[in-house]
Parts: sequence; structure tokens; C-alpha cells
Amino acid sequence: MTSHKLTVSLGSRSYSIYIGSGLIKAGGDGLLLPRLRGDKGVVVTNTTIAPLHLRRVQEWLATAGYESTAIILPDGEEYKNHEVLQRLYQEIFKAGLQRNGFICALGGGVVGDLAGFAAATYMRGIDLIQLPTTILAQVDSAIGGKNGVNLEVGKNLIGTTYQPRVVISDVDFIATLPERECLCGLGEVVKYGLLAGDDFISFLELNQADIMKRNPRSLAIMAHSCSRIKADYVVRDEYDLLGVRAVLNLGHTMGHALEKMYAYQNLAHGEAVAIGLTCALSLSFSMKLLSENGFQRALQLLQLYSLPMLVPVEADPDELIDLMRRDKKAGRGLSMILLRALGDPYLEENVDVELLRETLKRCKKPLIIS
Ligand code: NAD
Ligand code: GLY
Repeated sequence: MTSHKLTVSLGSRSYSIYIGSGLIKAGGDGLLLPRLRGDKGVVVTNTTIAPLHLRRVQEWLATAGYESTAIILPDGEEYKNHEVLQRLYQEIFKAGLQRNGFICALGGGVVGDLAGFAAATYMRGIDLIQLPTTILAQVDSAIGGKNGVNLEVGKNLIGTTYQPRVVISDVDFIATLPERECLCGLGEVVKYGLLAGDDFISFLELNQADIMKRNPRSLAIMAHSCSRIKADYVVRDEYDLLGVRAVLNLGHTMGHALEKMYAYQNLAHGEAVAIGLTCALSLSFSMKLLSENGFQRALQLLQLYSLPMLVPVEADPDELIDLMRRDKKAGRGLSMILLRALGDPYLEENVDVELLRETLKRCKKPLIIS
């Protein structure tokens, strides 16, 4: 299978993203790696991924001439915190890493965010390699340099933007991913479809069966398209200051509110995002931005991937709106990413709260016209 390569063009912080099958294998060449500052590093992963994939990665690094020590973190969003970060710094120090050391993040978004923050701050910044192992991480979190840890009062409140030296998305990792985690990643993939429009939506419509079967070729094309879309927003607004990168949050303001309402239990991030996408689509339709055809096609795409779409009946729209106002990305008014058409997102900074309340109520019942 051919692998895909693209470049995130950020001047001196530019880097490559490689996507394909068999990219990381014991004895395989390390040619995908850029010239790192030194030859000693750590592989940061977690207790679930280590027994599945760590050995292969360390052997691959060794073949390329890099010595690595493994650091195995506990598994779970609840460990993306300062306590675990402190332990991580200490382990990195114990492994003897100097300024020319590197960190290789082997895992999903949680490992990537923790290891990315450690790389950005240890000795004022050391080389970072992202080896994403979930769909969500391959299409989103490993790209663009955002990292961070959670505070008790909110998720991702501490962090930096620090670009990796390379991202290598080996779709073979996805073979061992639990079904529910796949689904969560596919929520983000559908988001990219809505951001990019017809071509990528058609690809997702036509290749749904292969993607659900985790056919490596289809997964690689899918991750390549998503990475290209994300990289394009990142290079235009690396530090998320211009309202350009912000469109990547389509579905997220509502998604975060739902996650918070459920105290981060029972409803996974990707599931909350899928419901958030439905709400954003529905509001865009109510505002007469999105056509009936576009609206129905988008809903059918969410349905095709078996993603949750209904706002839970017990959810109080006013509570959700209140939580949305308190989102860390909220501006002065109530902001949301909406669609003027499929493939034409924009940041709406003054959402009509009454219309949103009506939308949330409507989204408690199926919206698809069969
Ligand atoms: P995750 O990292 O918690 O991984 C999900 C689960 O799958 C975990 O139990 C993990 O151990 C397991 N797992 C991972 N890869 C596996 C594999 N190949 N085989 C078997 N099991 C595997 O979750 P996620 O969805 O990847 O990431 C969510 C996190 O990403 C959140 O903390 C979120 O805030 C963050 N995020 C960051 C960005 C960013 O730009 N930095 C963007 C989106 C999300
Ligand atoms: N996940 C949104 C961003 O990277 O900007």
C-alpha cells in the first residue's frame, strides 16, 4: 500500500505527516524521522497501548539509531492532569534526557496532549514525535501542536501550542482500537466532511462499509484527507487567534456543554461532538443558511456512521446554553461554528439564544426525513 505524505508549512516549525500501513515495524527503516537533535529519547504511552504496540515502536527507533526508555502512564482522561505531568517530568529526567533529547508520544489524544505539553516545557522545549494510535488522534489531535492538561474546573485549561517534528499515522494501530473509540473518532471525521464539503462527503458516503471494517487503505485515505483539511486551517491561524482555526470546533461548543452536563461520564467526547454537529446543522438550517438538501445529506452522513444525534431528553436547554456561554472558547456573545452550506463554515459570534433554545428542543426528536 502506498503511503501518503503532506507538509504542515509553518516556516522553521514545518513538519511532515506520514499516513499509511506498515510505517512503523520492527526492523523497518527510520527514514520517516527527521534529523533529531540527539539520539536519546523516551516513548510515552499508557498501560493499554504498551502491551500492544510499544515493543514494535522501540525496535523501530533502535533500527534508526535512537535509544529510548519507555514511560507508561495510567490510561484515562482523568489522568490528564498536573499530578501525572509532574511524574512524567521526573521520569523524563530519570531517563537522562537533556535539551537534545526527544519525546515520542505513542497513543491517543490523552497521551499526545500530556507528552506534547511535557515536550514543550521540559528544558524549555525538546523534540516531539507524534505516533497517534486512535482515529481521533490521527485525524485531529496529533496535528497542529495544541497540547495540555485538565484542571478540576475544566478541560484543557492549561496548555501551549508546540509543533511536533513529525507525525506518523500508521493505520495498523487502528486494528486494536475498541469499537466505541472508533466511533468517537468517526464523529470528528464527519466534522471534517461538513467543513470540507462535497468531495470528502462523497468519499465518506461511498466508503462507509470499508471504513467501518477498518480497511487500512480506506483508513489511510480518510486520515490523509482529514489531516490535509486540518493542516490547512492550522497554517492559516497557528495560534488560533484569527477565527480561522476556530472553525475546527464545529460541533464542539455544544459537545463540550453536553460532556460537562454529564460530568464527563457515560457520554464520550466523540459522541457529544456528533450531537453537537446535529445541533449546529439544525441551527444553520433554521437560520436559512443551510439548504434542506444540505441539511438532510449531513444528517444522513451522521446516521450512516451510526453516530448519536439526539439531544438527551432529560437535558435542560437553558443549562446547556449556560454551559456553552462558559466554554473556554466563548467570546463576548454566545459563539458557535455554523454552516452557510456544506463546506462553508463560519464563526457566528452572536447566536440568537431563543432560536438555539428551540433548536435544542427540536433535536430531542429525530430530524431525518426518510
Ligand atoms: P484516548 O487517548 O483516551 O484514547 C481512547 C482509548 O483508546 C484509551 O483507553 C486508550 O488507551 C485506547 N487506545 C488508544 N489507542 C489504542 C489502540 N491502537 N489500540 C487499543 N486501544 C487504544 O482518547 P482520544 O479520543 O484519542 O483523545 C481524546 C483526548 O484528545 C482528549 O483529552 C481531548 O481533549 C484531546 N484532544 C486534543 C486535541 C488537540 O488538538 N490537542 C484535539 C482533539 C482532542
Ligand atoms: N482541535 C482543534 C484545534 O486543534 O484547533
